[in-house]
Amino acid sequence: MPVIAVIGAQWGDEGKGKVIDLLAEKAKVVARFSGGDNAGHTVINHYGEFGLHLVPSGIFSAQAVCLIGNGVVINPSVLLGEIDLLNQRGVDTSRLFISDRAHLIMPYHILFDGLEEKARGNQAIGTTGKGIGPAFADKVARLGIRVGDLLDREVLLERLGHILDYKNTILTKVYGVSPLSLTEVYEQYCQFGERLAACIRDTSLIVEEALSRDELVLLEGAQGALLDPDFGTYPYTTSSSPLAGGGSLGIGVSPTRIGAILGVFKAYSTRVGGGPMPTELKDETGDLIRKVAHEYGTTTGRARRCGWFDAVAARFSTRINGFTGIAVTRLDILDNFPSLKICVGYKLDGKTIDYFPSSIAALSRCQPIYEELPGWLAPTTHIREYKKLPAKARQYLARLAELAGCTINLVCVGPEREQTIEVKPIL
Ligand code: IMP
Repeated sequence: MPVIAVIGAQWGDEGKGKVIDLLAEKAKVVARFSGGDNAGHTVINHYGEFGLHLVPSGIFSAQAVCLIGNGVVINPSVLLGEIDLLNQRGVDTSRLFISDRAHLIMPYHILFDGLEEKARGNQAIGTTGKGIGPAFADKVARLGIRVGDLLDREVLLERLGHILDYKNTILTKVYGVSPLSLTEVYEQYCQFGERLAACIRDTSLIVEEALSRDELVLLEGAQGALLDPDFGTYPYTTSSSPLAGGGSLGIGVSPTRIGAILGVFKAYSTRVGGGPMPTELKDETGDLIRKVAHEYGTTTGRARRCGWFDAVAARFSTRINGFTGIAVTRLDILDNFPSLKICVGYKLDGKTIDYFPSSIAALSRCQPIYEELPGWLAPTTHIREYKKLPAKARQYLARLAELAGCTINLVCVGPEREQTIEVKPIL
């Protein structure tokens, strides 16, 4: 069996958690490869409802080994809290392993995230405040502390001492706030190390072993393609790659082993935080989508910006990820709209364009060109077969897939695992 990568195709929050939860029934390994606890994956199954931030959504499967790969930044306090909560609710976490190469989110990363956002003033990115950007910045600046460092107290003390000296200088001299205590941070992270030691591994090896046994491996994406630091709406992006290519790097598996790349799209668009969003609806239709879909962030509780499906962005996402198929989630949210719009192009400075501009200044000036389709005005939440969907819903999906440039594998018509329609097998 090859690897299936499940990738957020828009600005995150597309419903990847549900899709992974569903596919994990057949997988032997489910691995997170990017981001950190900025992600929020809602999963509803027979254990109840969960908002996971770090633990892969495959944790509910009876047989899947769950991995947090080298490409993730880990806040150990959040991870341990999540493990404790899952255990209290009867979910076995003994098959969860974390990469020794993953970088740690340290207390100063969270402080800097807040201080830097404040310093940006009206240019603030609207980060989740979880320390993600500063932690990835330290990784590439070679100032990071990795999970494996927790296993050697001497190495940890030496590295932390050196780095904290530097961080404290910036905290006190640039931002005028109190320094952090080396002893306190060191002792806290030693305790985290003790608790996590048993699950620290070379996770790339676990993936390799599973593939050599011909087992199915799922790569669980976090965030979405349009938040990618290279291809997203930079600088209003996250700090690690949510793309399929990021999956290969973030878990340590060759791109040639990835056999299917499933792009997850919502049937409409949402975005949290700052940055351009051409199809955003700042009117009662946008409010209605938010209300019906309860579009509030799993991680921060912030209201999500809502709008029509943007097929220009979708086509771009398909191209840079190489989707082999797509899942369209939350179709049921559109059940009661008499007419629906899909953005098929942009008007930029009087010209019609069909591409997603790299410059946010240009993207902010793009006016969506819409195609209007009739709504189906009928419930879909009980439907389990594609052909039983109302004809107008099938027409909407077919047009969306045609414009996005990809065939549909799955359609979701509600949050529960079984509220899913398989249109075409993924592999
Ligand atoms: P950061 O990843 O916390 O640095 O936030 C950078 C941008 O990415 C902000 O606009 C966030 O709202 C957005 N973002 C980060 N994680 C998620 C997510 O899981 N879903 C949606 N947006 C996210």
